[in-house]
Amino acid sequence: TSGPRPPVVYLHFAECTGCTEGVLRSTYPWIDELLLETISMDYHETIMAAAGHSVEEVLHQTVKKYEGKFICVVEGAIPTADNGIYGMIGGKTMLEIAKEVCPKSLAVLCIGSCSSFGGVQAAAPNPTGAKSVSEALGDALKVPVVNIPGCPPNPINFVGTVVNYLLFGKLPDLDAHKRPLFAYGKTVHDQCPRRSHFENGEFVTEWGSKEAQMGYCLYEMGCKGPETFNNCPLVKFNDGTSWPVEAGHPCIGCSEPNFWDAMSPFYET
Ligand code: SF4
Ligand code: SF4
Ligand code: F3S
Repeated sequence: TSGPRPPVVYLHFAECTGCTEGVLRSTYPWIDELLLETISMDYHETIMAAAGHSVEEVLHQTVKKYEGKFICVVEGAIPTADNGIYGMIGGKTMLEIAKEVCPKSLAVLCIGSCSSFGGVQAAAPNPTGAKSVSEALGDALKVPVVNIPGCPPNPINFVGTVVNYLLFGKLPDLDAHKRPLFAYGKTVHDQCPRRSHFENGEFVTEWGSKEAQMGYCLYEMGCKGPETFNNCPLVKFNDGTSWPVEAGHPCIGCSEPNFWDAMSPFYET
């Protein structure tokens, strides 16, 4: 009784597949409901049963059939040095594939900090010239981009963006880094349950200490929550089980641009 499910093409470039692992653990909705009832995942190298030339043909046919109508999800940065030869799939560079597929979509959703901002591949000295999708394609991209950063991002932020489009027929409102405001509108610090310890000057200064056991603020151990925009304290990971600070680890700023360089050292002891 519902309309046709919107086609989705999910591209993997220079990445670790952690973002896919996160999405496959989506619980709201469950991943089977997302894949079988909500969207039509027509191309995704990790979960496709087929391989080789037949799937390359699927990609080609899907882009041709649904030009201007499919959502293109990109996981991973795009190597651009030496004409992109440091990342190749089926004899084509990732840069070529991105130039061929992304501009024909209705919008590009960059899942994870790699496709959003370059990620670990783009960390200094960045030998492969890895860039975000927006940087690598520049004006050739032509279609709207939504960045859903995090390493990995919470799947709920990805699913929320897709559902926003399905329900309202438009992409969500974005911040200056093209991140959806519904997920990245506030800092981790402003939503952190340890905030009262911060205000009271109650800090952890040594791993394994009494203060660490008491859940004091991790700012002096290097927590980047005050500079990081994300909703981790609110939605948590793994069906609301926990998130880095709740597990006793400082936020390392994984949803901010260039966090591998800009936020390090991650630990201050
Ligand atoms: Fe892996 Fe992080 Fe890149 Fe996702 S953003 S592909 S988890 S390195
Ligand atoms: Fe802020 Fe981090 Fe302290 Fe939480 S643990 S209050 S995010 S500095
Ligand atoms: Fe990343 Fe910090 Fe959340 S490290 S997962 S933005 S708590």
